[in-house]
Amino acid sequence: MKKETQISYEYFKNSSELNDIEKQLLERAKQARENAYAPYSQFLVGCSILLENGEIYAGNNQENAAYPSGLCAERTALFWVAANFPNVKIKKVFVVGGPKEFHEKNPPIPPCGACRQSLMEYETKQNENIELYFSSMNEEVVNVHAIKDLLPFYFDATFL
Ligand code: THU
Repeated sequence: MKKETQISYEYFKNSSELNDIEKQLLERAKQARENAYAPYSQFLVGCSILLENGEIYAGNNQENAAYPSGLCAERTALFWVAANFPNVKIKKVFVVGGPKEFHEKNPPIPPCGACRQSLMEYETKQNENIELYFSSMNEEVVNVHAIKDLLPFYFDATFL
């Protein structure tokens, strides 16, 4: 039996098409990207998170000479938010990434698999979808309406 899964998402050719709060999140993610600690990959990523109370927090990737000890921007921001505001829902996550020496052609940077899994944990916990945006520095933006859309057959606590 053949089955299919499909997702719908928004594509913005330019960030000028975003609404005010989305523009604010893009700006905060870009600012955070500037402070990324990525001496080994020279690939800078920033991530901003909008909470249900309207507050925005941001993080960036943190690398390490022992490579696997580093952490992506998404999880740096996410774990900080989850650690400090465990009972406040996450509404939107905005990721901006690209090489330090940026080229016009660099595409939007989607979260890696491990970050999707981590984000999924909190989407499940809060029982409410998290809107995910990811962008390149040339301001093309992809907007996915839930983390689960990027993670079909996700693993969660129901399997334990
Ligand atoms: N990186 C992120 O911060 N987020 C992603 O979604 C993809 C990759 C970081 C990890 C590493 O510091 C650098 O980008 C290159 O992989």
